[in-house]
Amino acid sequence: MVIKNINLETVCGITSTLPENDKPEIAFAGKSNVGKSSLINALMNRKSYARTSQTPGKTQTINFYNINDQLYLVDLPGYGYAKVSQREKEQWGTLIERYLHQSKQLKVVFLLIDIRHEPGEHDKLMYSWVTDQGYHPVIIATKLDKLKRSQVDKHMKMVKQGLNLIPGTKIIPFSAVTKQGRDEIWQLAETEFLGLDEEEQDGAKLKK
Ligand code: GTP
Ligand code: MG
Repeated sequence: MVIKNINLETVCGITSTLPENDKPEIAFAGKSNVGKSSLINALMNRKSYARTSQTPGKTQTINFYNINDQLYLVDLPGYGYAKVSQREKEQWGTLIERYLHQSKQLKVVFLLIDIRHEPGEHDKLMYSWVTDQGYHPVIIATKLDKLKRSQVDKHMKMVKQGLNLIPGTKIIPFSAVTKQGRDEIWQLAETEFLGLDEEEQDGAKLKK
């Protein structure tokens, strides 16, 4: 994907009305601090357009990034952040569920899991929310650079088994530091979920 222009077009909080967009949406879900905003920056070729933080709970809204007036990358609030009240957690949960349920343009949900750790209860719950809404999420195992090469296979297996993935579910290792996995994620999004035709993809490749 050649990024010509990006625009943080809509920011939705717990009481906001969700936008009725007319272009395809790709959403990123995952535990707080797992690297959703960092992945979105990598996909947009930007260092810090989407705000990231070492402190969990940075993104507390649903942020819609308009890419080339062609599609939206949707940054969902992170779950499992211990420091917020139970009431706030429930409200974010409701917001995410409302989005998954209501969006008419959502093509795919990427579910991010930190490759270093076994998926937790919240990850499993998120996975079932997404599949219950009829989506087949693609798993992204983040922070790949934090592992030694020799550990990667074992950890990929751990993520797969921990989520009890439906056979055939794609899982892509990714690092926001080295950008490994970035092209694969765009390629998958473009061909399988956005239905860009070959000419558009070839054009994109040529311009890369
Ligand atoms: P919330 O907005 O709180 O839900 O978090 P988030 O999922 O958007 O995470 P964010 O992208 O803000 O990243 C959290 C922290 O992890 C930041 O300090 C990032 O620099 C770091 N980080 C994200 N991805 C990677 C990665 O691939 N490798 C390494 N080493 N650090 C990463
Ligand atoms: Mg974030």
